[in-house]
Amino acid sequence: MANYSFLLFLYAYFIVKSLVTIANDANRNLHIVYMGSLPKYNYSPTSHHLSMLQQTTNHNDATIHMVRSYHKSFNGFAAMITNQEREKLKKMEGVVSVFPSKSLKLHTTRSWDFMGFKESIHRNKTGESDVIIGVIDTGIWPESESFNDHGFGPIPKKWKGACKGGKNFRCNKKIIGARYYLKDQPSTRDIVGHGSHTASIAAGNKVVGASFYGIAEGAARGGVPSARIAAYSVCSEQGCTDDAILAAFDDAIADGVDLITISIGADEQMSFDKDIIAIGSFHAMEKGILTIHSAGNNGPNIVTFSVSPWLFTVAATTMDRRLIDNVLLGNGLMISGKSINGFASNGTKIPLIHGKFASSPTCPSEKDAEFCFCLDPKRIKGKIVLCRTSFGYSAGLELGAFGSIAISYEYEAQVVSYPAVGIDPEVYDVVLSYANSTTTPSAEILSSAGFINNSAPIVAEFSSVGPNMQIKEIMKPDISAPGIEILAAYSPLAPPSPDKRDKRSVKYNILSGTSMSCPHVAGAAAYVKTFHPDWSPAAIKSSLMTTAKPMNGSELAEFSYGSGFLDPVRAINPGLVFDASKDDYVNLLCRIGYDTMEVRKISGDKSVCSSSSLPMAKDFNYPAIVAEIEPMKPFMINFTRTVTNVGFANSTYKAYIQQHSGINITVVPNILKFKCLKEKQSFVVHVVGEKFSDFSLVSSSLSWTDGTHSVRCPLILRVIKVGA
Ligand SMILES: *[C@@H]1O[C@H](CO)[C@@H](O)[C@H](O)[C@H]1NC(C)=O
Ligand SMILES: *[C@@H]1O[C@H](CO)[C@@H](O)[C@H](O)[C@H]1NC(C)=O
Ligand SMILES: *[C@@H]1O[C@H](CO)[C@@H](O)[C@H](O)[C@H]1NC(C)=O
Ligand SMILES: *[C@@H]1O[C@H](CO)[C@@H](O)[C@H](O)[C@H]1NC(C)=O
Ligand SMILES: *[C@@H]1O[C@H](CO)[C@@H](O)[C@H](O)[C@H]1NC(C)=O
Ligand SMILES: *[C@@H]1O[C@H](CO)[C@@H](O)[C@H](O)[C@H]1NC(C)=O
Ligand SMILES: *[C@@H]1O[C@H](CO)[C@@H](O)[C@H](O)[C@H]1NC(C)=O
Ligand SMILES: *[C@@H]1O[C@H](CO)[C@@H](O)[C@H](O)[C@H]1NC(C)=O
Repeated sequence: MANYSFLLFLYAYFIVKSLVTIANDANRNLHIVYMGSLPKYNYSPTSHHLSMLQQTTNHNDATIHMVRSYHKSFNGFAAMITNQEREKLKKMEGVVSVFPSKSLKLHTTRSWDFMGFKESIHRNKTGESDVIIGVIDTGIWPESESFNDHGFGPIPKKWKGACKGGKNFRCNKKIIGARYYLKDQPSTRDIVGHGSHTASIAAGNKVVGASFYGIAEGAARGGVPSARIAAYSVCSEQGCTDDAILAAFDDAIADGVDLITISIGADEQMSFDKDIIAIGSFHAMEKGILTIHSAGNNGPNIVTFSVSPWLFTVAATTMDRRLIDNVLLGNGLMISGKSINGFASNGTKIPLIHGKFASSPTCPSEKDAEFCFCLDPKRIKGKIVLCRTSFGYSAGLELGAFGSIAISYEYEAQVVSYPAVGIDPEVYDVVLSYANSTTTPSAEILSSAGFINNSAPIVAEFSSVGPNMQIKEIMKPDISAPGIEILAAYSPLAPPSPDKRDKRSVKYNILSGTSMSCPHVAGAAAYVKTFHPDWSPAAIKSSLMTTAKPMNGSELAEFSYGSGFLDPVRAINPGLVFDASKDDYVNLLCRIGYDTMEVRKISGDKSVCSSSSLPMAKDFNYPAIVAEIEPMKPFMINFTRTVTNVGFANSTYKAYIQQHSGINITVVPNILKFKCLKEKQSFVVHVVGEKFSDFSLVSSSLSWTDGTHSVRCPLILRVIKVGA
């Protein structure tokens, strides 16, 4: 039996970040002081920035106004200043410009705004309150503000479920269903935090002033705040079991949910007839319920195990708000690293000790000492330990250091359970040379802060990738959504960090993973469903895929981010959809070699693999086109697709092709004329090309446009030797 676990991104030893404690003065606003490129001569930007700020503010501790010093690719800093100070700064030598920073009021669930899905967008209020999202996870915290039922009308009549959440679990008009499946945890009450987090991303109420110790403060809201939630608890801290997951699918379908979101993944590749999530979601699909599934956090080297054509598989990306943690060194230098550090500093500098000078007498080598492999608890007590590896985080924590500063290669900030920050190797050298320069080194680890990074969205390194090893003609993952540093509801009984001894209790927490991107797509799918209650799961999936924003910046291209970045607003109006029925999926399974008995293990019905000629897998009506080609051989492939008109009754679409150099794509016909809604039209995509070297990926796309809608379909050729 496979092991399943929830797809929160956890790494063994983490890292860093902090927010400067900003003096809360209403006259001060965050400004960016831009100073152009970095001088070539020996220059210490951060101390220069601090001294400039000191002169301007006449405050002997200007650090309280400093938010961030930029010194990697350009020169400048961000600080909280008054209008008067801004004028003074503008006149200072070296200053190019001073401008207000776009946003310091960081929005928790800023992810929705970042996707252009504003709170004020056009919604179908009635439709939204009729939508029921089934969340298969670790349960839910029913008393969270994100799930209260103020203002909710009666439970939708179609609901056939139950509230069987165990002792002391009360449903309401928001959480309308609850079930649990584990003997060792006979309750739907979430004690892990994961289920409350995912449920609130998809459908949490708007909660103003949510934050994690003041970090990422803003209004938290789900994609469809008026929708209802049914929570199915299938995981404990130990993991999730096959039987529980399948039972939950079974119940959710019968209870009458409209969509299922599941951020749980297996740890191995399985054929569909052995894959519980594939089987459960097949049944859901058959009943008109789309299942949204996280791709997994095994990227970039291990492929996703979420490969069923009827599942909607989600990769994780960054958004424009990232989190950092600053550290003020005893010499006034400010450095930045990564971590979600909720421990506010009281302004006291804490002694800093390098691992080299904090090792036990039995430490085998100086290197082991620098790595903090052999810390002496007596030497680090009450100190911040500096380490060359991320092991230092857990070592310092375990052995009683006040805090730690350690090298980390992690991509996203993680909640830490004592003051700690992860830094780049170059920053480590800066701290080391400072520590070396004085007999009494000290540092102050500040609490974390947000900043805007406009190079977003970028697919997360940890997000599991394609190709699809079960059906190579079906693209996976399907789509991307934000999954880095997401603030959402949490269980007050769960430790906020991965450290089990962390005794803090929080209502909102910041997590990363494809677990977090998945419910974003579930919220968007629910939004589409409110306008198109009669659409099939394949049609909803198609509408979100063909309207996704094209992405780039990843070597694996579509095999890392799918069709692109989720755009819920466009998705309600896709123009054309690529539809598919249960029979189409059965035929696909037969075509790729499943026999009638194997197909029945998945479909659970009397489906038969027909002996008549079935369409080839490459011609399955998916909103993405994938094929494998032989290296160094000219090729010619035709693909067939059928689109259904859901835009304007009377419309004409033209094919627009973006092709990789080295191939020629033609579409026949290249104009599609529709006279009525739901009308179907088919077309053939001819692809011819020359020689490509082994292991390359050739990305192109086909878009149908009628002047109003644009229906984009990626076309990916994977160059690989047959049998490789
Ligand atoms: C709004 O939702 C209701 C209930 O599902 C549905 O009947 C109606 O067609 C929807 N309206 C629009 C404009 O989509
Ligand atoms: C500040 O924090 C440090 C470390 O916890 C502690 O030793 C010190 O007493 C605190 N100072 C004040 C003024 O609270
Ligand atoms: C730290 O000091 C030692 C001598 O005590 C020296 O060998 C080493 O290069 C110094 N390192 C840095 C980074 O300054
Ligand atoms: C912004 O994000 C990009 C992509 O993730 C990254 O390469 C870059 O270093 C980030 N910039 C800053 C200032 O952190
Ligand atoms: C990625 O796409 C964006 C937006 O279309 C574009 O501005 C940027 O130049 C692209 N980057 C690369 C590396 O192609
Ligand atoms: C693709 O279609 C074209 C035109 O319909 C036809 O000439 C060609 O033989 C087809 N190629 C393959 C490989 O089926
Ligand atoms: C459909 O659109 C065409 C071109 O815009 C127009 O000439 C024609 O009258 C329209 N037909 C109907 C039935 O609206
Ligand atoms: C694509 O078509 C153009 C124009 O017909 C031709 O010159 C070129 O050789 C073709 N390329 C390939 C890879 O077939």
